[in-house]
Amino acid sequence: TDLAHIRNFCIIAHIDHGKSTLADRLLEFTGTVSKRELMQQTLDQMELEREKGITIKAQAVRMRYKALNGEEYELNLIDTPGHVDFTYEVSRSLAACEGALLVVDSTQGIEAQTLANLYLALEANLDLIPVINKIDLPSAEPERVRQEVEDVIGIPKEDCILASAKEGIGTQDILEAIIKNIPPPKGDLNAPLRALVFDSHYDAYKGVIAYLRVMDGSLKVNERIALIASESSAEILEAGYFHPKMTSVGELTTGEVGYIATGFKNVKDCRVGDTVTVPSALGTIQPLAGYEPAKPMVFAGIYPVDSNDYPELREALDRLKLNDAALFYEPETSNALGFGFRCGFLGLLHMEIIQERLEREYNLDILATAPSVAYHVTKMGGEVIEVDNPSEMPSFGEIEKIEEPTMDISIFTPSRYIGTIMDLVTTRRGIYKDLKYIEAERVLLTYTMPLAELIIDFYDQLKSRTQGYASLDYSFAGYLEADLVKLDILVNAFPVDALSLIMHKDNAYYQGRALVEKLQKLIPRQMFEVPIQAAIGSRVVARETVRAMRKDVLAKCYGGDISRKRKLLEKQKEGKKRMKMVGSVEIPQEAFMAILSLG
Ligand code: GTP
Repeated sequence: TDLAHIRNFCIIAHIDHGKSTLADRLLEFTGTVSKRELMQQTLDQMELEREKGITIKAQAVRMRYKALNGEEYELNLIDTPGHVDFTYEVSRSLAACEGALLVVDSTQGIEAQTLANLYLALEANLDLIPVINKIDLPSAEPERVRQEVEDVIGIPKEDCILASAKEGIGTQDILEAIIKNIPPPKGDLNAPLRALVFDSHYDAYKGVIAYLRVMDGSLKVNERIALIASESSAEILEAGYFHPKMTSVGELTTGEVGYIATGFKNVKDCRVGDTVTVPSALGTIQPLAGYEPAKPMVFAGIYPVDSNDYPELREALDRLKLNDAALFYEPETSNALGFGFRCGFLGLLHMEIIQERLEREYNLDILATAPSVAYHVTKMGGEVIEVDNPSEMPSFGEIEKIEEPTMDISIFTPSRYIGTIMDLVTTRRGIYKDLKYIEAERVLLTYTMPLAELIIDFYDQLKSRTQGYASLDYSFAGYLEADLVKLDILVNAFPVDALSLIMHKDNAYYQGRALVEKLQKLIPRQMFEVPIQAAIGSRVVARETVRAMRKDVLAKCYGGDISRKRKLLEKQKEGKKRMKMVGSVEIPQEAFMAILSLG
């Protein structure tokens, strides 16, 4: 297809505003898939994605559309991940497009991720088509939301397309606007190949499949390619596009979007954001802008509940890593938990996904420690080290200063919740930046806040304090010095490294107190009395005691029937599953996560 008849675009939206539903309507209208095929959820493939109702992996689908002007166009829809953990992946998907549909729910209006995605789209120089969705609902307020788009984003309200992705209203208007308002791709067909990798996944038969946008030149099956940042090379085993099934065509040219099968065994050889070229052009060609290696922000220890499962856990992580260049792990030993791995994740959702996959797909019982962030610690004498495991924090006397990662956060909320949000953010060490009225009753609050405070239950707290009305977005803001201390937890006088936490000095006393109270409730009674202490250095700041168990559980069914006894034993076994013997005390998984639910 000639450049003038290609359009590359994506859909950006706040969660639940209807991105996937609109994508389905476009695929259906253009005859790319039938209604029946759509039933089996075309765009979101992974089971986990469907369950969590989010899109994790970006994908690309090609459609053919015969426009009202009588000409036929090749439309490439690039699906972007819907969560802030995957902002970098979103930015690369956007870089593969010339335009974006900005979907706003007409019953809600602009939300935090609407704006966050909008900024990313503007950075990528995309032309925008605002779509006011869900106008079929009785509670829709298309006029209000249209006005909001004009006031907040600066796009004239007449340019908004009113739509219902559910009912198929406005679908053709949207397709026509894509042809009219999104420019065709530019690029030099005769230049050496440059293609942007905006996603990749591992396929057991074809090796790594890379999703590409060809910026210059063209590529053909059987040709050799080189990846600039990954410093790898391969032969193209297959080239094609998704329609929505993989369709091999043998060639992709300037302006097009599609995939290549590389035969690579690991996605790290073909990273998102990298530039694909030909080996002969290496050294002379300018890589495409914007490549960044994945940087983990959240860390946690992952341990097998049964230490015999350690090799299986390693195997499972190795396999997940084949498909996830952003997952980091290295072996780690804990005095309490034994052999395990320190893992690094892009964010909390990424962490949750990995933990769930280890359990579900690999059938492992794992125990995870509370999430932590990476601190920059300057030691006396000037050496700077990165510490992402609280138990490895050097002792007081050795530290000159500690810096912690901070985030810029933005919160959209009805104005009636300003007070409670300010209150929450202040207890989380947030620094107020700005308050803007978006409408008479809705405001945008911005703060800078330590990442460590954000990953501990902040989102849930925000949602519950605002009855779900507030929306949140955040991005990395840099490292800031803070007065931090390490809180150690001793169970039966045994320091449990996996329970250590880094926290602000001012909070250490009351958080230490709250934590031992919580642990006292979580740690089951043993045959003996178990003291639980929180200490900073050698100073104990709080103490509770788990009293000794009086009777054996079985004593209760003395004389009872045998099946009841078995049931009880089974129940006990069930409860034991996620326990770990630490010293002589059994500690359940929940204890390691206690910090997350202090409120
Ligand atoms: P994420 O993938 O989580 O980002 O969500 P999304 O933006 O893709 O939203 P999705 O398409 O999954 O829609 C969210 C919900 O809104 C679903 O229950 C849809 O059925 C519903 N929905 C989407 N569009 C419309 C619409 O035009 N009208 C109505 N009534 N419901 C809609």
